[in-house]
Amino acid sequence: VPGWHFPMMNDDRRNDAYATAIKTTIRQGDLVLDIGTGSGLLAMMAARAGAKHVVACEELALVAHKAQEIIANNHLQKMITVLPKRSTHLVMGIDLPAPADVLITEIFDAAFLGENLKEALIDASGRLVKPGARVIPMAGKIYVGLLESRAVHQQYAVGKVQEFDLSPYNEFSADPYWQVNLKHFPHRFLTEPVQILELSMLDCASWPSQASLDAKVVQDGLCHAICFWFDLILSPEVTLSNAPDSMNPRQGTHWGQCVHILHEPAVLRPDQTVTIRVFNRDRYFHFECEPIS
Ligand SMILES: C[S@@+](CC[C@H](N)C(=O)[O-])C[C@H]1O[C@@H](n2cnc3c(N)ncnc32)[C@H](O)[C@@H]1O
Repeated sequence: VPGWHFPMMNDDRRNDAYATAIKTTIRQGDLVLDIGTGSGLLAMMAARAGAKHVVACEELALVAHKAQEIIANNHLQKMITVLPKRSTHLVMGIDLPAPADVLITEIFDAAFLGENLKEALIDASGRLVKPGARVIPMAGKIYVGLLESRAVHQQYAVGKVQEFDLSPYNEFSADPYWQVNLKHFPHRFLTEPVQILELSMLDCASWPSQASLDAKVVQDGLCHAICFWFDLILSPEVTLSNAPDSMNPRQGTHWGQCVHILHEPAVLRPDQTVTIRVFNRDRYFHFECEPIS
């Protein structure tokens, strides 16, 4: 079981936000589907909020069995059925008695798509929930900003060392993004953060394959990375964000942020306009920035 499950379960901001959204979204008598239940935490929140029944699925069998144990210890085993299955393998009429009134999911990595979110949502919206079902989260917004941070760059790229050019080694740093918590690294944003995508959860089949926008450079510096993060619109009143602490000091979460590293840092001047482009791949966002990457 991945080690990040522990900081995630202990992330009070995340948990409080989901608890509030679940309380206000669920109505007495709802059939709820929780995709990716982990410890069973959100399923138990849904049962506490008045759901008639919660079907919770978890693809890691070891984790699913632990959720069953935890749910039984909390005396909720009659209200929650845990299935050790990937959501895409659930069988309607057998695993779920009927399409669900409410879908709850928290299968977000720091880069939003990494846990194969799109595949799970396309499948669930097509066959596991009622038309017009309520969903937590309702939508996600993706934000981006150009970052100056030599310290972050040094985590994932190399240039001149002892006057020797080691940059061909950057071929081994080819991942489309890296997870980083900016609170641990000195950094400055050279552009204002801008929202580049807004994605409605049950409408994922029509998410755009790419988007772009122009951003104005607000201070001069050396751009080392394109940094991105998300807002989860859990309900009309509750938004959960992994924005950098420097923008939202009371909102730090276990996710931190993500960076697309520019192997060749680029000088930026105030009032310069850059075009940031995002390509919506199946399991990750790929970012480019003209004229610098
Ligand atoms: C980020 S954790 C969140 C766990 C729990 N929902 C919570 O909020 O504490 C996501 C969990 O979902 C599981 N998972 C991801 N995609 C899934 C899918 N499509 N079907 C079933 N389980 C999935 C992973 O194995 C992992 O345990």
